[in-house]
Amino acid sequence: MVVVAILAAGRGTRMKSSQPKVLHKLGGLSLVERVLYSVEPMQPKRRIVIVGYQASEVKTAMQSLPNLEFVEQTTQLGTGHAIQQLLPHLQGYEGDLLVLNGDVPLLRPETLKNLLQIHQDKQNAATILTAYLPDPKGYGRVFCNGENFVQQIVEDKDCTAAQKQNRRINAGIYCFRWQDLALVLPHLQANNAQKEYYLTDAVTQVSPVMAVDVEDHQEILGINDRLQLAGAYEILQNRVKNQWMAAGVTIIDPASVTIDETVKLHPDVIIEPQTHLRGSTIIHTGSTIGPGSLIENSQIGENVSVQFSVIINSNISSGTRIGPYAHLRGQVEVGEGCRIGNFVELKNTTLGGKTNVAHLSYLGDTTTGTKVNIGAGTITANYDGFKKHPTKIGDNTKTGSNSVLVAPLTLGSDVYIAAGSTIAQDIPDDCLVIARSQPVIKPGWVSKKRDENK
Ligand code: UD1
Ligand code: CA
Repeated sequence: MVVVAILAAGRGTRMKSSQPKVLHKLGGLSLVERVLYSVEPMQPKRRIVIVGYQASEVKTAMQSLPNLEFVEQTTQLGTGHAIQQLLPHLQGYEGDLLVLNGDVPLLRPETLKNLLQIHQDKQNAATILTAYLPDPKGYGRVFCNGENFVQQIVEDKDCTAAQKQNRRINAGIYCFRWQDLALVLPHLQANNAQKEYYLTDAVTQVSPVMAVDVEDHQEILGINDRLQLAGAYEILQNRVKNQWMAAGVTIIDPASVTIDETVKLHPDVIIEPQTHLRGSTIIHTGSTIGPGSLIENSQIGENVSVQFSVIINSNISSGTRIGPYAHLRGQVEVGEGCRIGNFVELKNTTLGGKTNVAHLSYLGDTTTGTKVNIGAGTITANYDGFKKHPTKIGDNTKTGSNSVLVAPLTLGSDVYIAAGSTIAQDIPDDCLVIARSQPVIKPGWVSKKRDENK
């Protein structure tokens, strides 16, 4: 049985922000949300977030997350003082307490599970996560005897020059047998460089305490400034991209690509440079995305190609080619084997299979049948200044270049619209429609005019 407490009361001065540090976003999620998700697989009995600096902002931002409790630390007197605030809330609790820092967002759930497992198997009073860092500056240093039993944790600011040489650091992640911790918490002293009550002092006052090294020290990176925030994003992105490459996806130039963790890719997808995949996007096998494309919350079928285009909240069936320079603004359904070409904008539109919208068009609130050809420059006039209206186009219908389709409008099947037509009434099946004025031709007019004006 485990209760989780997340330390999130500090301000995060080095972020130089009006926003509390733990609410800063990393790959779409706040730091503290990421910490929470890393404990989810353990199914904690309770999740307690310790808030203080801008407490109400932090609470509001986390409102939608289920089963959270907030405990307030009204003045921030240190990490030990923060955990002291739990005493009235955990009276009589006999299980373990897992303490996490709200600014350590890259932890893997397996790392935490392993820590808890060792803690419980060895029946430790406390078990802490440690790492050997190439540059341990700023972190608390952990001193153990030969068997990984922790003897001392010294904060960077309290270290002697010799102690600073120790590269084994405290990650700020701890499992405690709560009953043991509760006994020592009230007696912490603030006699240190920062005049704070350190949680690390409580650690060495219980026994036995074991240190467990994390394999990949990138996991325990703490975010204290914007540089570290960007560094964490890079680590996160590398994790995601490496995972997809291992699963059979080609990413031509990984450094120029971003992929949200929520995206799903199938083998033999090719991601060209400068491409960004976001949200619930799924891309099926054989498709090539990019260069220069943004796809958000969209499903892309097999063998689709998308170049220099933006696709939001849409579904594209297999064998379709999109771009360059198409914008699918949302609620767009494209059938199989379609062609969406240069400078085409689609919104709330469904295209039947083998339909082409190849050049310079806007279709809004439109539904087409199959094998429709939308000529260059065809525009649906779907807005009358007050309301949006639908356009329906039957199978095999072709609109000529520069047609204007004034909605609400229904064109039947096998309709041909002549170039330059403005269509404002429904057209039955199997018709040619020419809706342009007859030209008025005046032979000799120009030379006559010239002579008059001499
Ligand atoms: C802490 C550890 C250090 C460890 C490092 C790992 C202590 C004394 N030191 O140092 O050994 O190497 O984390 O990242 O614990 N917080 C509160 N209330 C407070 C103070 C802090 O809730 O009164 C929260 C902060 O919001 C933050 C977390 O505790 O989420 C850590 O605080 P921070 O000041 O960043 O501690 P470090 O100096 O990094
Ligand atoms: Ca920190």
